[in-house]
Amino acid sequence: MITTVTLNASIDKAYHMTQKIENGTVMRVAETHNSAGGKGLNVARVVKLCGSDTKAAGFVGGYNGQYLESLLDADGISYEFEHINGETRSCINILDPGYGSTEYLEGGCEVTAEEETSFLERFPGIIRNSDVVTISGSAPRGMGRDIYQKMIRIVKKLGRKVILDTSGEYLKRGLESLPTMVKPNKDEIEMLFDIKVRSQEDVIGYAQKIYEKGIPYVVISLGGEGALLVCKKGIYQGKPPRIEVVNTVGCGDSMVGAFAVALERNMEPEDALKFAVAVASANALSSNTGTFDPAKRDEISQNVKIIKL
Ligand SMILES: Nc1ncnc2c1ncn2[C@@H]1O[C@H](COP(=O)(O)OP(=O)(O)OP(=O)(O)O)[C@@H](O)[C@H]1O
Ligand SMILES: [Mg+2]
Repeated sequence: MITTVTLNASIDKAYHMTQKIENGTVMRVAETHNSAGGKGLNVARVVKLCGSDTKAAGFVGGYNGQYLESLLDADGISYEFEHINGETRSCINILDPGYGSTEYLEGGCEVTAEEETSFLERFPGIIRNSDVVTISGSAPRGMGRDIYQKMIRIVKKLGRKVILDTSGEYLKRGLESLPTMVKPNKDEIEMLFDIKVRSQEDVIGYAQKIYEKGIPYVVISLGGEGALLVCKKGIYQGKPPRIEVVNTVGCGDSMVGAFAVALERNMEPEDALKFAVAVASANALSSNTGTFDPAKRDEISQNVKIIKL
């Protein structure tokens, strides 16, 4: 079982437009697709597609919160959310032939100190039957920047594995609790160390710095270039084949989902990297976020190059 944590969940609304957008006029939406959103929920969908059991956790509230749970029911994903007083946010992605994708992201409601405490008290029970926990994205307003630090400590005390995928202060603080794996992308590494990454040697150097803190698996994702893994067994580069990209949103979440499955199944690091690169790249071929065609993943997997550096 894999628990995926999403503290700032949303109802994601994809508006498919057929005409060109004209600002300041009335636009009719050709088709609407609503989904349970937030990075951790993308991870949950990918875990399920990979054939592992998953449970979604975090905060939901109000009518949107109820709706989000019903969308997860329809997806066949189990959940154990903390119900809060605020209303779960909505995020709108307008997809049109002219601009491509334009996103409007609500900030989300506040979580009170009492709600945070209640969640942290229930957290050990929520992850009781999970081998791996994933923590993704940022936290809602009102919560401490050390929330992930606290959660990682709880997961580790129970002897479970934990993957952290976040940025900025959340990443910096979270690293102090030594998660099992982190998956920053290039921007997140640059922000973390306050530097510019200019070469593969730079990427390796910073990944090693994180590994040396005591984090067993450090994955740096590099978009179309694939990903780099630093672990006890060595340094590996995973390169996907060139593909006709449709939508790269959620590629990082797909990679986290695949690595969670790989950790649950105790795969060898090089096999885990190949699997995760194939799943994440297959997600780029799908217009929906956090999904992939298993046949395409298998095809890509045959052409993923794993190089030991
Ligand atoms: N253009 C692409 N072509 C092929 N594979 C891709 C492409 N973009 C992303 N991927 C795959 O997805 C993985 C993760 O992508 P990326 O580094 O963009 O994550 P990210 O920046 O964390 O994404 P997000 O947070 O938006 O989900 C890559 O390692 C690669 O396997
Ligand atoms: Mg990411």
